[in-house]
Amino acid sequence: MGLLDGKRLLITGVLTPQSIAFEVARVCQEQGAELVLTSFGKAMGLTEKSARRLPQTPPVFELDVNQPSHIERLHDELASRWGSLDGFLHAIAFAPPDALGGNFLDTPFESAVTAFQTSAYSLKALSVGLLPLMKADGGAVVSLDFDATVAWPVYDWMGVSKAALEAITRYLARDLGAHGVRVNCVSAGPLRTMAAKGVPGFDILADGWGRRAPLGWDIHDPGPVARTVAFLLSDWSRGITGEIVHVDGGYHAMGADLHTSGG
Ligand SMILES: NC(=O)c1ccc[n+]([C@@H]2O[C@H](COP(=O)([O-])OP(=O)(O)OC[C@H]3O[C@@H](n4cnc5c(N)ncnc54)[C@H](O)[C@@H]3O)[C@@H](O)[C@H]2O)c1
Repeated sequence: MGLLDGKRLLITGVLTPQSIAFEVARVCQEQGAELVLTSFGKAMGLTEKSARRLPQTPPVFELDVNQPSHIERLHDELASRWGSLDGFLHAIAFAPPDALGGNFLDTPFESAVTAFQTSAYSLKALSVGLLPLMKADGGAVVSLDFDATVAWPVYDWMGVSKAALEAITRYLARDLGAHGVRVNCVSAGPLRTMAAKGVPGFDILADGWGRRAPLGWDIHDPGPVARTVAFLLSDWSRGITGEIVHVDGGYHAMGADLHTSGG
C-alpha cells in the first residue's frame, strides 16, 4: 500500500532530474500516484526528456503559469483525462537577473512585479483555475518556499516574492478550506538545481547551512523535501492547512552556527 494510492496529481516545475519537482514526482509515483507534469516553451523538450527518466513516463502538458489561457486549457485537459484532481505541486519561480544578486535597491518595478507574478501570484492563479476539479472531493495544494521571515544575501526580490507566497498560502487556506482544499508550503533548505544556478551567489546561501542545521544538510539531496511534499499531498495530512513546514535540517530554529565546519 502506498501513501498516494489512487491519487491523481499535477506536478509543475520538472525541468531537469535535479529539479525538486522531479524527486517529488518520483516519490509520488513510488507511493502509487498517477501524474501529469507541466512545462512550457523551449523547456518542453527538457521536461519530456526528464519525464522519461521517471519510473513511469507521465504526459507533459503546456503551462506558462502567467497565461490565463494556459491555465484554462490545463483545466480542460485534466477534466477530460481524469474528471477530477486530488492535488498539485506548485514548483515555479522566476526573477529577472536585475531582481536578484545584490541589486535590491536598483531593481526596477517591472522586474520586481515579474518575480512576484511568476513566483507568488501564480499560486493563486493556478489554485483558482483548478479548483473546479478539486471541489467535489477536496484536494491538496503544495508549494515550495525559501524561508521569508528574514532577509538573505543576494535573494532580493525573490525573497520578497517568497514572503508573498507564504502569505498567499494562508489566504488560500482561508478561502479554499470550505471546499475541502488544503494549502500548505514546504520551506526547503538550499538545493542545487537550475533555479539555484540562476541565483548569483547561491553558494553564499548554501555554504555553511550544515554548520547551523542540527541535522546537517546535503544540497544534492532533495529526498527529504520530496517526501514531505508527498505527505502534504496525502490524506495523512488532512488536518493541516495554511502551514509552512520547514525541511531545512532544523536551520530555521537555530540562532547561530553549531559547528566550525560542514557543508
Ligand atoms: N533550489 C533551492 O535551493 C530551493 C530552495 C527553496 C525553494 N525552492 C523553490 O523550489 C521551486 C522549484 O525550483 P527548483 O529549485 O527545483 O528549480 P528548477 O529550475 O528545476 O525549477 C523551477 C521551475 O519553474 C518553472 N517556471 C519558471 N517560470 C515559469 C512559468 N512562467 N510558468 C510555468 N513554469 C515556470 C521552470 O520551468 C522550472 O521547471 C521554486 O519555487 C524555488 O524557488 C528552491
